[in-house]
Amino acid sequence: SRTQVAIVGAGPAGLLLGHLLRAEGIDVVIVERASADYVLGRIRAGVLEATLTDLLHRLGIDARLNAEGLPHDGFYLSDGEKLIHIAVGELTGKRVTVYGQTEVTRDLMAAAPERGLEVVYQADDLALNAIETDAPYLTYSKDGVAHRLDARFICGCDGFHGPSRKAIPDSAGRTFEKVYPFGWLGILADVPPCDDELIYANHPRGFALASMRSQTRSRYYIQVPSSEDVADWSDDRLWDELTIRLGPEAGSRITRGPAIEKSIAPLRSFVFEPMAYGSLFLAGDAAHIVPPTGAKGLNLAASDVAYLSEALAGFFRRSDNDGVAGYSARALARVWKSERFSWQLTTLMHRFPASDAFDRRMQQAELDYIAGSEAARKSIAENYVGLPL
Ligand code: FAD
Ligand code: DHB
Repeated sequence: SRTQVAIVGAGPAGLLLGHLLRAEGIDVVIVERASADYVLGRIRAGVLEATLTDLLHRLGIDARLNAEGLPHDGFYLSDGEKLIHIAVGELTGKRVTVYGQTEVTRDLMAAAPERGLEVVYQADDLALNAIETDAPYLTYSKDGVAHRLDARFICGCDGFHGPSRKAIPDSAGRTFEKVYPFGWLGILADVPPCDDELIYANHPRGFALASMRSQTRSRYYIQVPSSEDVADWSDDRLWDELTIRLGPEAGSRITRGPAIEKSIAPLRSFVFEPMAYGSLFLAGDAAHIVPPTGAKGLNLAASDVAYLSEALAGFFRRSDNDGVAGYSARALARVWKSERFSWQLTTLMHRFPASDAFDRRMQQAELDYIAGSEAARKSIAENYVGLPL
């Protein structure tokens, strides 16, 4: 079969791009390896920039977001004792929305059929072919039957481990990477959050984050060594550690409950340049990874596809080649700024195994500076709400 744009991967990047292209009248097919239920079972990001919510409003896929999303006008940094308030709303005039990645994905999935967005789930053995030409195509099999999908462009929205980035010859790209010597152990539980706002804490025992999905569902994380086994963390042990690391004030307000989900995610900074090769474009985690401190991963996927959908609309509707030619440079300019912010906040808020007493004092001095300087808080706030497109 044939389409104008073939998208690999039905995560948030692929689904959002598919909808944005359909809204421009462009034909799209998304091919996804997993089942729809598997995609919805992944618990990931929770904080949405206006960059992403604006796209959902524009698409009119926002009924549940409007009803259930929690607007947040600020958050806290903690040094393990006192809380430093970052008044994002006052400092920037913008806010973020707490609404799970799972829910964004569910809403985009539900709206696909009525908008003519075809998604093929459970596609095996996907390969990208002839991407250096103007006539690329995907091959895959489903239920044992081989398929070929021809397109003018292929968009790789298949995450960090997907085949799209790997289809680009080594000589045509460059990788930048930093792997951190710790991961985040996350717990999701149906208990009220310990505060109305998020708390990012740098305690001498390591980082902790208090987040939420709703007034009755909490999401917490703690930094653990990369080698840690989630089986060694009973719910009680994790709640005890969170109570210590979040400090006396917030820690005492934690409500405990059984874990609905508990898992460890590695932390990594990664960028692949360029984000295009021949007739292939990369977007989202397929091209870059940020450590989760600062909540930029999902939001970067959204800004990528905003740029990419504009570029592709220019190509198909106005025969304009400049947008597609400029996509990679335009996206990377924003990617690198989010990489910088995520790396800096990770460095400020975590315990590094190799760090010494001087490094600890530097973290304390920086947190103290932030507490006393509106300019410092404003810089953090404008990055947290999302830099302009
Ligand atoms: P993905 O969501 O990874 O989607 C890629 C899709 O491509 C998947 O559905 C996958 O099944 C599909 N795919 C892969 N290979 C193939 C193939 N061969 N054929 C067809 N389809 C394929 N960000 C935050 O801001 N906060 C967080 O707390 C946070 N936690 C995270 C925890 C984990 C474990 C991970 C992995 C990421 C986390 N992130 C977090 C990052 C955020 O979730 C991602 O940035 C976001 O999911 C990126 O969306 P995406 O659509 O680019 O990629
Ligand atoms: C969440 C994840 C993050 O990485 C973050 O910075 C804030 C919140 C979350 O899952 O709720």
